Amino acid sequence: MLDFSKFIKYSKAGPRYTSYPTALEFSDSFSYDEYVQKLKAQDSSRPISLYFHLPFCKNACYFCGCNVVFTSKEDKMSRYLEYLKQELKILSNIVDTNREVIQMHFGGGTPTFFSAAQLDVIIKEIKSYFKNFSSEAEVSCEIDPRHINEDQMRVLAQNGFNRVSFGIQDFNEKVQEAVHRIQPYSITKEAMDLARAYNMHSVNVDLIYGLPYQSLETFKETLSLALSLNPDRFAVFNYAHVPWMKKTMRKIDETTLPLPDEKLRIMQETINFLTSNGYKMIGMDHFAKPEDELFKAIEKGELHRNFQGYTTKGGADLIGIGLTSIGEGEAHYAQNTKEMREYEEAIEQGRLPFERGVVLSDDDKIRKYVIMELMSNFKLDIKRFERLFGVDFKHYFEDAINELKPFEADGLLSMSDEAIECTPTGTLLIRNISMPFDAYMKKHIQNAKTFSKTV
Ligand SMILES: C[S@@+](CC[C@H](N)C(=O)[O-])C[C@H]1O[C@@H](n2cnc3c(N)ncnc32)[C@H](O)[C@@H]1O
Ligand code: SF4
Repeated sequence: MLDFSKFIKYSKAGPRYTSYPTALEFSDSFSYDEYVQKLKAQDSSRPISLYFHLPFCKNACYFCGCNVVFTSKEDKMSRYLEYLKQELKILSNIVDTNREVIQMHFGGGTPTFFSAAQLDVIIKEIKSYFKNFSSEAEVSCEIDPRHINEDQMRVLAQNGFNRVSFGIQDFNEKVQEAVHRIQPYSITKEAMDLARAYNMHSVNVDLIYGLPYQSLETFKETLSLALSLNPDRFAVFNYAHVPWMKKTMRKIDETTLPLPDEKLRIMQETINFLTSNGYKMIGMDHFAKPEDELFKAIEKGELHRNFQGYTTKGGADLIGIGLTSIGEGEAHYAQNTKEMREYEEAIEQGRLPFERGVVLSDDDKIRKYVIMELMSNFKLDIKRFERLFGVDFKHYFEDAINELKPFEADGLLSMSDEAIECTPTGTLLIRNISMPFDAYMKKHIQNAKTFSKTV
């Protein structure tokens, strides 16, 4: 067993790099007109990936870091759907909707707080604009197992959804009580059976480590129970505790959170347990069966990282629709407003609810490539990088290479003229290993209240 105490020094605030530059660099210096121009100028031969944010939940899970609107009012939800339809209409006058759609994702909140009939309406509306869905498109929905019925699953399946993702987090009752999310195993099992009955091609489950009262022992039990559901994929997230940003997290007693060395032990055990049960580790926090597309993508070096985590679908322009959603083009990120009132006002004025974003400089593009390679594949092929960008790696990243030397000394990675490659233990600290390549990190390093802890 490794001595994890020597890695505690790496427990510091750092990004999860679902984007580079990170959302902290998004600003209104990327103007609305520029954004519209970027969308209009997109190459029609590039496929599209659509993300819809359906933000509603009825009760707060205290750990939740997602952009959620808590409500139990039906009219608020049906009102949102009407605005979403309008947003689609505005978008269809800007983006070439004949482009091929290779991916669509419903995220939240909890998309299945909408009824089967509402989900049917919104999906049909989307397809009335975007008619060119690839026969191979990945169409997925996030589901809270406590809020799914057969009618909803049928509507998803009939409309071409082929993947679902269930939130579990943890099966331990004490942990569930502490995070205000009571979810007995039987409920999750029923949801899983429903997904199988409707032939969902791939079923993912989300777990979180780092929650109150978790220990290596309790998490082992959660892992065994989750494995008994036989999911195609696991996402095992490191709890991102950012109470200065998310009020509900303040209800969590910080003295009950597992310490960094325990968290590293939990992650190490998760890797051992899932890999010895036939799953392959994908990137920082995903595991998939060898026959899953995610794993095949790794073998072909085609794994990508975006706001939804890891994906096989690179080379597509991501368009975000709905409150707070984020889009990503070849040289930009764009985010919709977080305020419902502003969202509605923009749409009433016939504008996209775009609020802020960033246009990537050449330096951003270079660093994005390096960081995403490390985050996805745990290694960087330096020769390939140099061919792609025509820059001398050693010269360009002299500072970063020096910053990585202590990691090399700690056995977390190896560096040569050809490649940077993480060791198995190094993969646990991949966020730290990526940070030296982040040009904006120095600006944020003094401010503890930016990112969650890496460990
Ligand atoms: C939108 S939710 C999933 C769908 C549904 N609302 C549910 O909870 O079952 C997305 C996932 O993000 C993860 N998540 C939420 N807050 C997090 C946090 N603070 N740190 C790490 N993961 C988090 C959870 O695993 C959750 O399942
Ligand atoms: S974890 Fe899921 S169900 Fe819980 S508050 Fe967040 S989005 Fe809603």
